[in-house]
Amino acid sequence: MKIAHFSRWGFLMAAAGSAVGLGNIWKFPYITGEYGGGAFVLVYLLTVAVVGFSVMIAEMLIGYLGRRDGVGAFEELAPRHKERWKYAGFMGLSGTLVMFYYSVVIGWIFYYITLSFGTLPASIPEAEGIYNTLMTQGLGTQIFFHTLAFIIITAVLVRGIKGGIEKFNLILMPALMMIIAGMLIYAMNLESFTKALSYMFVPDWSKLTSEAFAVAVGHAFFTLSLGMGAIMIYSASLAKDSNIVRASLFVIATDTLIALAAGLVLFTFLFQYGAEPAKGPGLVFISLPSVFHAMGLVGNVLAVLFFVALAFAGLTSSVSLVEPMVQYLIDRWNMSRVKAAVSMGVFFYVFGIVAILSLYSGTAEYFTWGGKSFFDWSDYMTSNVFLPLAGLVMAIFVGHVIEKERVAAVLQEHMGWFYPIWRFSVRYIAPVALFFVMLNLIGVIEF
Ligand code: PFF
Repeated sequence: MKIAHFSRWGFLMAAAGSAVGLGNIWKFPYITGEYGGGAFVLVYLLTVAVVGFSVMIAEMLIGYLGRRDGVGAFEELAPRHKERWKYAGFMGLSGTLVMFYYSVVIGWIFYYITLSFGTLPASIPEAEGIYNTLMTQGLGTQIFFHTLAFIIITAVLVRGIKGGIEKFNLILMPALMMIIAGMLIYAMNLESFTKALSYMFVPDWSKLTSEAFAVAVGHAFFTLSLGMGAIMIYSASLAKDSNIVRASLFVIATDTLIALAAGLVLFTFLFQYGAEPAKGPGLVFISLPSVFHAMGLVGNVLAVLFFVALAFAGLTSSVSLVEPMVQYLIDRWNMSRVKAAVSMGVFFYVFGIVAILSLYSGTAEYFTWGGKSFFDWSDYMTSNVFLPLAGLVMAIFVGHVIEKERVAAVLQEHMGWFYPIWRFSVRYIAPVALFFVMLNLIGVIEF
């Protein structure tokens, strides 16, 4: 076993760093805008509390008890049919596929950091022009910044758990939290803050379609980094006597608070300057820069801080998306860490370029199938198929396959009266919820 141990605080920061990502600051506000605000947020919060919490503990438990790469952990813990359960472990390696688009978006963020130092777009159409030009014509710019993301992520992974991942998170996460907290305090002093509060927390149930419901549940999993082996591989490096219930609570609370804070900050700014909340994926790249422009010089400072925080969030999640594969190559293929990290880096780097080409006007048609670009497919397949499927399998594995006594030995003392409730949730509620959500997300059923 070549897995090093995290320090207690190092683990908490790394796991929270995995959870807090582009999902919180980029995706959550724009899907909240698209699906109408309050009711959507409540379904998301409820899912995080009920299903997300159960599966988070389940995934941590597999890593903590298995103590090795995801595939090995399933093999180790399955009492029978180890050969077959091994394949469940492979599903937990799909995080690298998320990187095909995730790293490209981090590249855009880097580009927006540079833009924030100059004159920001004065109007939405101007901002739209910049964004669309970057997507469809900015081939060189995108590849340049994507390369930068690749270099940073790979360099951290090469240094391993202690010197790389832990250190990186211990610096970036507190910085990110401070920036978001500072921006929240600033937003609280603006008039539109109350409007943003009611937009996010007063539900209008008529807007809650079945699609909105499924997206909210799916997002709860994505934002908590569940189902991709990230939380699992970090938990394999937890010190032996750790309290995984408390760690789960910490990660969930941090992730949720940062998403809500980011949403409040964004909507306050947007309302204050009369921009639209329902702007889709371009929300932070189109509406927000023009709002920052309207704020004058303060806007430039806020823009730099905002995009830096977003980049930090994306980078700390990225390392957790690739690390399961890196550890797999080290454990199973006997590769050195350097070789494993560089190969996986090159792998997502090359497919990231395909994702860029799938948006670029000159080549988009060659990388678009069924109306979706390669970029969109990478998001669609990972969020709507692999993630819920792997979440479902993990819940079943912990709830029905691993010996009861083994699970109870770790969790009961930390959970007390809550233990039977958790067990019920992981055995029945989580699998059923994940199953229906997955069918809805891939368009098989509508409910
Ligand atoms: N939780 C990350 C986000 O919200 O952006 C994304 C993510 C990271 C998903 C790691 C899955 C994962 F394993």
